[in-house]
Amino acid sequence: MTATIEISDLRRTFGAVTALDGIDLRITRGTTGLLGPNGAGKTTLLRILATATGADSGQVTVLGHDPRTSEGRLAIRRLLGFVPQEPGFHQRFSAFEFVDYIAILKEMTDRRTRHDEVRRVLTEVGLEGVMKKRIRWLSGGMRRRVALAQAILGHPELLVLDEPTAGLDPEQRLRFREIIGAIAEDNTVVLATHQTEDVAAICDRVVVIDQGRVFFEGTPDELAATATGMVWSSASHARDATVSWRTASGRYRVIGDRPSDGEAVEPTIEDAYLVMLGQRALATEGAA
Ligand SMILES: Nc1ncnc2c1ncn2[C@@H]1O[C@H](COP(=O)(O)OP(=O)(O)O)[C@@H](O)[C@H]1O
Ligand SMILES: [Mg+2]
Repeated sequence: MTATIEISDLRRTFGAVTALDGIDLRITRGTTGLLGPNGAGKTTLLRILATATGADSGQVTVLGHDPRTSEGRLAIRRLLGFVPQEPGFHQRFSAFEFVDYIAILKEMTDRRTRHDEVRRVLTEVGLEGVMKKRIRWLSGGMRRRVALAQAILGHPELLVLDEPTAGLDPEQRLRFREIIGAIAEDNTVVLATHQTEDVAAICDRVVVIDQGRVFFEGTPDELAATATGMVWSSASHARDATVSWRTASGRYRVIGDRPSDGEAVEPTIEDAYLVMLGQRALATEGAA
Protein backbone atom coordinates (compact mmCIF):
# COMPACT_ATOMS: atom_id res chain seq x y z
CA MET A 1 0.00 0.00 0.00
CA THR A 2 1.25 3.50 -0.73
CA ALA A 3 2.32 5.51 2.29
CA THR A 4 0.24 8.53 3.28
CA ILE A 5 2.92 9.63 5.76
CA GLU A 6 6.67 9.10 5.37
CA ILE A 7 9.13 9.92 8.11
CA SER A 8 12.87 9.57 7.90
CA ASP A 9 15.53 10.17 10.53
CA LEU A 10 13.31 12.59 12.42
CA ARG A 11 14.96 14.27 15.40
CA ARG A 12 13.75 16.74 17.99
CA THR A 13 15.32 17.85 21.26
CA PHE A 14 14.07 20.11 24.06
CA GLY A 15 17.21 21.50 25.71
CA ALA A 16 19.07 18.47 27.04
CA VAL A 17 16.12 16.10 26.43
CA THR A 18 16.03 14.08 23.22
CA ALA A 19 12.31 13.58 22.49
CA LEU A 20 12.78 12.03 19.02
CA ASP A 21 16.02 10.23 18.32
CA GLY A 22 15.90 9.30 14.63
CA ILE A 23 12.40 8.05 13.74
CA ASP A 24 11.87 6.19 10.47
CA LEU A 25 8.29 5.24 9.63
CA ARG A 26 5.91 4.67 6.74
CA ILE A 27 2.26 5.04 7.64
CA THR A 28 -0.56 3.91 5.35
CA ARG A 29 -4.34 4.30 5.36
CA GLY A 30 -6.14 2.66 8.28
CA THR A 31 -5.40 3.07 11.97
CA THR A 32 -1.84 3.19 13.28
CA GLY A 33 -1.30 3.24 17.04
CA LEU A 34 1.81 4.69 18.64
CA LEU A 35 2.25 2.68 21.81
CA GLY A 36 4.79 3.75 24.41
CA PRO A 37 5.22 4.80 28.04
CA ASN A 38 5.06 8.39 29.27
CA GLY A 39 7.88 10.45 27.86
CA ALA A 40 8.41 8.12 24.87
CA GLY A 41 8.01 10.93 22.34
CA LYS A 42 4.49 10.14 21.11
CA THR A 43 3.06 13.61 21.60
CA THR A 44 6.08 15.26 20.00
CA LEU A 45 5.75 13.02 16.94
CA LEU A 46 2.00 13.64 16.62
CA ARG A 47 2.44 17.39 17.03
CA ILE A 48 4.96 17.38 14.19
CA LEU A 49 2.49 15.47 11.96
CA ALA A 50 -0.24 17.95 12.93
CA THR A 51 2.08 20.92 12.11
CA ALA A 52 1.80 22.19 15.69
CA THR A 53 5.58 22.10 16.06
CA GLY A 54 8.62 21.40 13.91
CA ALA A 55 11.51 18.95 13.94
CA ASP A 56 15.20 19.78 14.34
CA SER A 57 16.16 17.57 11.41
CA GLY A 58 14.92 14.74 9.24
CA GLN A 59 12.16 14.53 6.67
CA VAL A 60 8.40 14.23 6.92
CA THR A 61 5.88 14.01 4.10
CA VAL A 62 2.22 14.17 5.13
CA LEU A 63 -0.30 13.40 2.37
CA GLY A 64 2.33 14.50 -0.13
CA HIS A 65 3.09 17.80 1.61
CA ASP A 66 6.19 19.02 3.41
CA PRO A 67 5.41 20.59 6.83
CA ARG A 68 8.65 22.58 6.70
CA THR A 69 7.17 24.98 4.14
CA SER A 70 4.29 27.35 4.88
CA GLU A 71 2.34 26.14 1.80
CA GLY A 72 2.90 22.57 2.97
CA ARG A 73 1.61 23.33 6.46
CA LEU A 74 -1.47 25.05 5.08
CA ALA A 75 -2.20 22.12 2.76
CA ILE A 76 -1.80 19.63 5.64
CA ARG A 77 -4.03 21.68 7.97
CA ARG A 78 -6.79 21.65 5.35
CA LEU A 79 -6.75 17.84 5.33
CA LEU A 80 -6.24 17.33 9.06
CA GLY A 81 -8.32 16.68 12.14
CA PHE A 82 -6.37 16.89 15.40
CA VAL A 83 -7.16 16.05 19.02
CA PRO A 84 -4.29 17.30 21.20
CA GLN A 85 -3.40 15.47 24.42
CA GLU A 86 -4.88 18.26 26.54
CA PRO A 87 -7.36 20.13 24.41
CA GLY A 88 -8.02 23.68 25.57
CA PHE A 89 -11.62 24.86 25.48
CA HIS A 90 -13.32 28.16 25.80
CA GLN A 91 -15.27 27.11 28.88
CA ARG A 92 -18.06 29.62 28.34
CA PHE A 93 -18.79 28.31 24.87
CA SER A 94 -21.44 25.67 24.46
CA ALA A 95 -20.36 22.46 22.73
CA PHE A 96 -22.12 23.71 19.59
CA GLU A 97 -20.48 27.15 19.72
CA PHE A 98 -17.03 25.67 20.24
CA VAL A 99 -17.27 23.19 17.36
CA ASP A 100 -18.83 25.91 15.18
CA TYR A 101 -15.90 28.19 15.98
CA ILE A 102 -13.43 25.49 14.88
CA ALA A 103 -15.53 24.96 11.74
CA ILE A 104 -15.12 28.67 10.91
CA LEU A 105 -11.35 28.31 11.34
CA LYS A 106 -11.58 25.34 8.98
CA GLU A 107 -12.91 27.71 6.33
CA MET A 108 -16.50 26.47 6.32
CA THR A 109 -17.98 29.81 5.33
CA ASP A 110 -21.59 28.98 4.49
CA ARG A 111 -23.51 29.24 7.76
CA ARG A 112 -26.28 26.75 6.96
CA THR A 113 -24.02 23.96 5.72
CA ARG A 114 -21.57 24.64 8.53
CA HIS A 115 -24.25 24.35 11.19
CA ASP A 116 -25.50 21.11 9.61
CA GLU A 117 -21.95 19.76 9.74
CA VAL A 118 -21.52 20.84 13.39
CA ARG A 119 -24.74 19.02 14.29
CA ARG A 120 -23.61 15.97 12.32
CA VAL A 121 -20.28 15.61 14.16
CA LEU A 122 -21.80 16.25 17.60
CA THR A 123 -24.47 13.61 16.89
CA GLU A 124 -21.79 11.23 15.62
CA VAL A 125 -20.03 11.34 19.01
CA GLY A 126 -23.33 11.04 20.90
CA LEU A 127 -23.56 14.61 22.18
CA GLU A 128 -26.77 15.65 20.38
CA GLY A 129 -28.52 16.01 23.74
CA VAL A 130 -26.03 18.48 25.25
CA MET A 131 -25.04 20.63 22.25
CA LYS A 132 -26.31 23.80 23.90
CA LYS A 133 -24.64 23.18 27.26
CA ARG A 134 -21.59 25.17 28.22
CA ILE A 135 -18.41 23.13 28.04
CA ARG A 136 -17.58 23.97 31.67
CA TRP A 137 -20.64 21.96 32.75
CA LEU A 138 -19.78 18.86 30.74
CA SER A 139 -18.10 15.77 32.22
CA GLY A 140 -14.51 14.86 31.32
CA GLY A 141 -15.69 12.10 28.96
CA MET A 142 -18.07 14.51 27.22
CA ARG A 143 -15.31 17.05 26.75
CA ARG A 144 -13.14 14.40 25.11
CA ARG A 145 -16.02 13.74 22.74
CA VAL A 146 -16.33 17.45 21.95
CA ALA A 147 -12.61 17.32 21.09
CA LEU A 148 -13.21 14.34 18.81
CA ALA A 149 -16.23 16.04 17.21
CA GLN A 150 -14.22 19.09 16.13
CA ALA A 151 -11.51 16.81 14.74
CA ILE A 152 -13.88 14.96 12.41
CA LEU A 153 -15.40 18.15 10.92
CA GLY A 154 -15.34 18.05 7.15
CA HIS A 155 -14.20 14.39 6.86
CA PRO A 156 -10.42 14.87 7.25
CA GLU A 157 -8.09 12.63 5.26
CA LEU A 158 -5.76 12.50 8.26
CA LEU A 159 -6.93 12.21 11.84
CA VAL A 160 -4.29 12.65 14.56
CA LEU A 161 -5.46 11.68 18.05
CA ASP A 162 -3.31 12.05 21.17
CA GLU A 163 -4.55 9.65 23.88
CA PRO A 164 -8.14 9.96 22.72
CA THR A 165 -9.60 7.27 24.99
CA ALA A 166 -8.21 8.67 28.26
CA GLY A 167 -11.14 9.34 30.60
CA LEU A 168 -13.77 7.51 28.53
CA ASP A 169 -15.94 4.86 30.13
CA PRO A 170 -16.26 1.42 28.45
CA GLU A 171 -19.41 2.32 26.51
CA GLN A 172 -17.90 5.56 25.23
CA ARG A 173 -14.76 3.66 24.28
CA LEU A 174 -16.82 1.28 22.19
CA ARG A 175 -18.57 4.17 20.42
CA PHE A 176 -15.23 5.84 19.88
CA ARG A 177 -13.81 2.68 18.30
CA GLU A 178 -16.77 2.50 15.91
CA ILE A 179 -16.30 6.12 14.84
CA ILE A 180 -12.55 5.70 14.31
CA GLY A 181 -13.02 2.40 12.49
CA ALA A 182 -15.46 3.97 10.04
CA ILE A 183 -13.15 6.92 9.35
CA ALA A 184 -10.09 4.70 8.96
CA GLU A 185 -11.69 2.69 6.15
CA ASP A 186 -10.82 5.43 3.65
CA ASN A 187 -8.45 7.67 5.59
CA THR A 188 -5.35 7.71 7.78
CA VAL A 189 -5.75 7.69 11.55
CA VAL A 190 -2.70 7.99 13.79
CA LEU A 191 -3.27 7.79 17.51
CA ALA A 192 -1.10 7.68 20.60
CA THR A 193 -1.92 5.50 23.55
CA HIS A 194 -0.26 3.77 26.45
CA GLN A 195 -3.11 1.29 26.68
CA THR A 196 -2.60 -2.04 24.97
CA GLU A 197 -6.38 -2.70 24.85
CA ASP A 198 -6.76 0.26 22.51
CA VAL A 199 -4.21 -1.25 20.18
CA ALA A 200 -5.92 -4.64 20.17
CA ALA A 201 -9.36 -3.12 19.60
CA ILE A 202 -8.70 -0.28 17.16
CA CYS A 203 -5.37 -0.48 15.38
CA ASP A 204 -4.47 -2.15 12.07
CA ARG A 205 -0.81 -1.40 12.75
CA VAL A 206 1.15 -0.65 15.88
CA VAL A 207 4.42 1.18 16.43
CA VAL A 208 6.11 0.72 19.79
CA ILE A 209 8.11 3.79 20.63
CA ASP A 210 10.27 4.52 23.61
CA GLN A 211 13.01 7.08 24.30
CA GLY A 212 12.36 8.65 20.93
CA ARG A 213 13.03 5.47 18.95
CA VAL A 214 10.93 2.90 17.14
CA PHE A 215 11.24 -0.51 18.80
CA PHE A 216 8.65 -2.38 16.78
CA GLU A 217 6.43 -1.83 13.78
CA GLY A 218 3.84 -4.31 12.55
CA THR A 219 0.34 -5.65 13.13
CA PRO A 220 -1.02 -6.18 16.67
CA ASP A 221 -0.80 -9.97 16.08
CA GLU A 222 2.82 -9.66 15.04
CA LEU A 223 3.52 -7.66 18.19
CA ALA A 224 1.91 -10.34 20.38
CA ALA A 225 3.91 -13.04 18.56
CA THR A 226 7.22 -11.44 19.57
CA ALA A 227 6.59 -12.83 23.08
CA THR A 228 6.03 -16.42 21.90
CA GLY A 229 7.88 -18.84 24.17
CA MET A 230 8.24 -16.25 26.92
CA VAL A 231 4.85 -16.35 28.65
CA TRP A 232 3.90 -19.08 31.15
CA SER A 233 1.23 -20.08 33.54
CA SER A 234 2.58 -21.30 36.87
CA ALA A 235 1.24 -22.30 40.30
CA SER A 236 3.74 -20.07 42.06
CA HIS A 237 5.31 -16.66 41.86
CA ALA A 238 8.55 -16.78 39.84
CA ARG A 239 11.05 -14.47 41.51
CA ASP A 240 13.62 -14.24 38.74
CA ALA A 241 11.08 -13.65 35.95
CA THR A 242 10.95 -10.32 34.13
CA VAL A 243 7.37 -9.90 35.35
CA SER A 244 5.01 -12.22 37.21
CA TRP A 245 1.57 -11.55 38.61
CA ARG A 246 -1.33 -13.43 40.10
CA THR A 247 -4.33 -13.68 37.81
CA ALA A 248 -8.04 -14.01 38.64
CA SER A 249 -7.80 -17.80 38.24
CA GLY A 250 -5.32 -17.92 41.15
CA ARG A 251 -2.44 -19.01 38.89
CA TYR A 252 0.50 -16.78 38.08
CA ARG A 253 1.23 -15.36 34.69
CA VAL A 254 5.00 -15.32 34.26
CA ILE A 255 6.95 -13.49 31.58
CA GLY A 256 10.57 -14.51 31.09
CA ASP A 257 12.31 -17.87 31.61
CA ARG A 258 10.10 -20.92 31.98
CA PRO A 259 9.32 -21.75 35.62
CA SER A 260 9.80 -25.48 36.47
CA ASP A 261 6.03 -26.10 36.34
CA GLY A 262 5.39 -23.49 33.62
CA GLU A 263 2.81 -24.18 30.93
CA ALA A 264 3.23 -22.13 27.78
CA VAL A 265 0.39 -19.69 27.12
CA GLU A 266 -0.52 -17.65 24.08
CA PRO A 267 1.05 -14.19 24.48
CA THR A 268 -1.11 -11.06 24.34
CA ILE A 269 -0.13 -7.63 23.07
CA GLU A 270 0.32 -6.55 26.68
CA ASP A 271 2.76 -9.42 27.34
CA ALA A 272 4.80 -8.51 24.29
CA TYR A 273 4.82 -4.84 25.25
CA LEU A 274 6.03 -5.70 28.77
CA VAL A 275 8.75 -7.95 27.35
CA MET A 276 9.87 -5.19 25.01
CA LEU A 277 9.95 -2.52 27.73
CA GLY A 278 11.66 -4.97 30.11
CA GLN A 279 14.40 -5.69 27.60
CA ARG A 280 14.81 -1.99 26.96
CA ALA A 281 15.13 -1.31 30.70
CA LEU A 282 17.78 -4.07 31.01
CA ALA A 283 19.69 -2.68 28.03
CA THR A 284 19.62 0.81 29.57
CA GLU A 285 20.85 -0.51 32.92
CA GLY A 286 23.63 -2.37 31.13
CA ALA A 287 24.70 0.80 29.35
CA ALA A 288 24.63 2.92 32.52
N1 LIG B 1 7.72 21.57 25.27
C1 LIG B 1 8.59 20.78 25.89
N2 LIG B 1 9.59 21.31 26.64
C2 LIG B 1 10.49 20.51 27.25
N3 LIG B 1 10.48 19.17 27.18
C3 LIG B 1 9.52 18.58 26.46
C4 LIG B 1 8.51 19.35 25.78
N4 LIG B 1 7.70 18.48 25.12
C5 LIG B 1 8.15 17.25 25.40
N5 LIG B 1 9.25 17.30 26.19
C6 LIG B 1 10.02 16.15 26.66
O1 LIG B 1 10.24 15.28 25.56
C7 LIG B 1 10.07 13.92 25.94
C8 LIG B 1 8.97 13.29 25.12
O2 LIG B 1 7.72 13.87 25.51
P1 LIG B 1 6.35 13.53 24.79
O3 LIG B 1 6.53 13.68 23.32
O4 LIG B 1 5.31 14.38 25.44
O5 LIG B 1 6.16 11.99 25.15
P2 LIG B 1 4.84 11.11 25.35
O6 LIG B 1 3.72 11.80 24.63
O7 LIG B 1 5.18 9.78 24.74
O8 LIG B 1 4.58 11.00 26.82
C9 LIG B 1 9.79 13.93 27.44
O9 LIG B 1 11.01 13.73 28.12
C10 LIG B 1 9.26 15.32 27.69
O10 LIG B 1 9.51 15.75 29.00
MG1 LIG C 1 1.87 12.35 25.25
